Amino acid sequence: MEQGVSFDLDLIRRYDQSGPRYTSYPTAVEFDESFDEAAYKAACARSNESGRPLSLYFHIPFCDTVCFYCACNKIATKDRSLAPPYLERVYRELEMQSALFDKSRVVEQLHWGGGTPTFLSHDQMVELMDVTRRHFTLADDETGEFSIEIDPREADASTVKLLRRIGFNRMSLGVQDFDERVQAAVNRFQTEAQTMTVLEAALAEGFRSTSIDLIYGLPFQSVESFMKTLERVIEVNPQRLSVFNYAHLPERFKPQRRINEADLPAPQVKLDILQSTIARLTEAGYVFIGMDHFARPDDELAVAQRAGTLYRNFQGYSTHAHCDLIGIGVTSIGMIDNTYGQNRRELPEYYADIDAGRLPVFRGLELNRDDLIRRDVITRLICHFQLDKAAVAAQWGIVFDDYFADSLAKLKGMEEDGLVTVDADSIRIQARGRLLVRNICMAFDAYLAVKTGPIGFSKVI
Ligand SMILES: C[S@@+](CC[C@H](N)C(=O)[O-])C[C@H]1O[C@@H](n2cnc3c(N)ncnc32)[C@H](O)[C@@H]1O
Ligand code: SF4
Repeated sequence: MEQGVSFDLDLIRRYDQSGPRYTSYPTAVEFDESFDEAAYKAACARSNESGRPLSLYFHIPFCDTVCFYCACNKIATKDRSLAPPYLERVYRELEMQSALFDKSRVVEQLHWGGGTPTFLSHDQMVELMDVTRRHFTLADDETGEFSIEIDPREADASTVKLLRRIGFNRMSLGVQDFDERVQAAVNRFQTEAQTMTVLEAALAEGFRSTSIDLIYGLPFQSVESFMKTLERVIEVNPQRLSVFNYAHLPERFKPQRRINEADLPAPQVKLDILQSTIARLTEAGYVFIGMDHFARPDDELAVAQRAGTLYRNFQGYSTHAHCDLIGIGVTSIGMIDNTYGQNRRELPEYYADIDAGRLPVFRGLELNRDDLIRRDVITRLICHFQLDKAAVAAQWGIVFDDYFADSLAKLKGMEEDGLVTVDADSIRIQARGRLLVRNICMAFDAYLAVKTGPIGFSKVI
């Protein structure tokens, strides 16, 4: 299908409301503590019957310094001695987790996220990968997708060489903005040379995919300043780009209180930046994958989108739809069989559980049949911008138009506005609806329908 996205200022203004990002459905807001260790173990046992491949997510929470905009789960510290006791617990957790899964199940996808995985020393990174291989069977380099989030301030050519040697074949780099005034306002000082060193090393070492994170909506950004950063990024030609909208929620994320609101670009400027970014990236040959993500047409995400096999999970878009996901480390979320389970969110509690020989899963959710059906619909829409009603009906044994009568009624206004077309056979999100794909998915979200009042999600755009 054609992959275009069009920018309609009037529509974006009208539809700009808070909404989930659908890295899961139901979203984490619905998790509760009745889902415990026993429920998690039961899900693992069921999942073994399926024999599906596995995906491993490791959360490394530490960061050397705090970026004021940051909304990630992190612990800012200069104290590197915090890493060994954390890794000790991660190893114990790996051991406990691996006992729950059949050895024949291959890990096709592995990801280190944060915080900052490169906070770890070279020796610690080697050790973490060794222990992982001791407990799990990793796919070979050809079929496995092994990725890491890199802070270029914490890595050089030797780090990249080592990461490739221990098995990583994909990376994403935090950049955000090259402009020095912006960097000073958000406390993230990072030279272009630091970023380029890592990118060049990735190319030399044979990393299959590199991705760069940018953020628009930061203090002092203008269209001109952001386009300068974008030009530099386009010159180095990463396979993927994430261009995130800065979510300013200072009541929720304490470091954001150190950002002076008067320095933030006006909403109109943010929209202008977004519009120019989309135009420039499209001109440079990138495809809009959806939800902040762009990729070269030959990148596997773009290929999977065209083939109808793209998937979305807690790490964003993915090509490994069929895996059960095991979350390791503080705050990590797993997705096993028909459940989501999240680990303890504070280090002392995470440590206490592990030290007592308990899995640190403390809350989650078991999806019921309606959740599974709606998750399927939302995933199809957010990944492929279209949905074949007959395919969903056959998959779940439902009459699509009856089952989703309420949702289809909610789409009416969006149909009239040209965001989406609905006919007897399909739902298709049009070019002008693609930036607003979240709004369209929200029509199928049973939990939003019953909620009233503020729900604490960030804005759609
Ligand atoms: C865990 S960080 C990436 C790895 C490493 N910590 C770094 O910063 O280089 C994940 C990404 O989330 C994005 N991010 C963090 N806080 C954000 C916010 N408030 N709004 C939008 N994007 C944000 C940034 O682009 C960041 O690179
Ligand atoms: S953006 Fe990355 S380095 Fe900065 S505070 Fe967040 S997780 Fe840490």
